Amino acid sequence: MNPVNTVVVYGATGHTGRFVVEELLRRAIPTTIAGRNPSTLTALTRQVALPRRTALPDQLALPDQAAMDGTQAWDRAAITPAAVDDPRTLDRVAIAPAAVDDPGALDRAFAREWDRAAITPAAVDDPRALDRAAIAPAAVDDPRALDQVAIVPAAVDDRRALDGAFARQWDRVAIASAAVDDPGALDRAFAGQAAVINCAGPFALTAIPVLEAAARNGVPYVDVAAELEANVTTLGHPSASRAVPACAFFGGLADLLAAAALDGDTKADRIEVAYGLPSWHPTPGTRVAGEVSHERRGGRRVRFTDGQLRYHQDAPVHLDWTFPEPLGRRRVIAEFSMADIVTIPSHIDVSEVRSLMTVDAAADLADPNTPAPVAVDALGRSEQTFVVDVRVHTGGVERRAIARGQDIYAISAPLAVEAVQRLLDGRTRSTGVASAGAMFDAADFLNALPLEVEVH
Ligand SMILES: NC(=O)c1ccc[n+]([C@@H]2O[C@H](COP(=O)([O-])OP(=O)(O)OC[C@H]3O[C@@H](n4cnc5c(N)ncnc54)[C@H](OP(=O)(O)O)[C@@H]3O)[C@@H](O)[C@H]2O)c1
Repeated sequence: MNPVNTVVVYGATGHTGRFVVEELLRRAIPTTIAGRNPSTLTALTRQVALPRRTALPDQLALPDQAAMDGTQAWDRAAITPAAVDDPRTLDRVAIAPAAVDDPGALDRAFAREWDRAAITPAAVDDPRALDRAAIAPAAVDDPRALDQVAIVPAAVDDRRALDGAFARQWDRVAIASAAVDDPGALDRAFAGQAAVINCAGPFALTAIPVLEAAARNGVPYVDVAAELEANVTTLGHPSASRAVPACAFFGGLADLLAAAALDGDTKADRIEVAYGLPSWHPTPGTRVAGEVSHERRGGRRVRFTDGQLRYHQDAPVHLDWTFPEPLGRRRVIAEFSMADIVTIPSHIDVSEVRSLMTVDAAADLADPNTPAPVAVDALGRSEQTFVVDVRVHTGGVERRAIARGQDIYAISAPLAVEAVQRLLDGRTRSTGVASAGAMFDAADFLNALPLEVEVH
């Protein structure tokens, strides 16, 4: 029998599902991987570390297999200049920003962390030490989760150890298989579990069956859907259980930024969401989502104007948009229409919401030969960077919220997992189904993500 009270990742075999599983494991949250195909799920737990390792630069791989042992990795965790060059990895190991400019202080900080790192029963009695080790309260009861936490910080500047640590964690996840057209199997997979994160697209097929199975079992639901029509259906669903659709890069992030810029107000005249992506290497799932949406719309385009979604056949308009540096002035498609035009008006009284996309990224997406993303760092992220520039216009006043980060697929994982943690610990502002900006304290949520955020 499978363990209960885990977070179930439906669609765990996908590119985004894997990031979500690793984010859960990094936070020491007991995890079940789920999907339609039992053999690919089982194979995944054995193979998942391999593609990442082979994709990483040679000079960063350690020379021997002993690196796979977590204890040895801790011994070897002296801070290298390479780690100091990467603020995000430093953030992840909870180093005070002050230390980043000071290699000596940085080494001492790590030395202190190391001293404290072996998780023992004594450490469990010390909430401050647990905080420092980034252990979720739930993990305190779970020796396996504590083991996992002890491995991860050490591995941050040790790529092979990191892969090894994750591989071991993947070995430990529970597995549940259920097709979306088999409600009984979905019920068996979700009964007694803590939450479900749906990463299986196309969401036109998966969102409602998975959401309804979660609701039947009284389990909170989060998905990463970027298909507007699926977002409309899930946001309008009368589920009594809490659910947060589109809690990912598209749909969730801009909704949180808009809510943070509005700072409690719920009315605006116009909201613009400009996506500054220098490139976009889409996954197969992204391509399928685009095809499904295209078919669903009969080839038409969609916009949110005069307070509603409207389908149209106008040609795309290009214009210049000045993103914050380093991106600066870029050519964008003015009505690229992403999931934000559904999530934002679901709780903000606004007559026009527009998403704009850099022409370069849109061209990558449209080109069938653009390859899928390739991992370039220890966290499996691609080299893609992003700036999301949200401008809220009300009565002639512009408020602005900006987020900068790396890899639109990777950032979707902390968005979805942070949502689940907040749904489980009661940090919510709404009941039933709501978008991230309505369900959570947006500014506080954004602060918890591996992003640079500015709100003006
Ligand atoms: N909102 C956002 O910003 C955002 C971010 C990331 C991803 N997404 C969306 O998330 C979805 C997945 O993206 P991805 O990058 O992870 O794609 P991917 O790597 O191609 O993975 C697709 C996943 O969906 C599963 N799946 C496909 N059809 C299914 C069905 N009929 N029943 C059950 N499972 C099914 C696949 O399972 P098998 O292994 O069994 O084929 C696989 O796990 C896409 O729709 C994408 O648009 C949105």
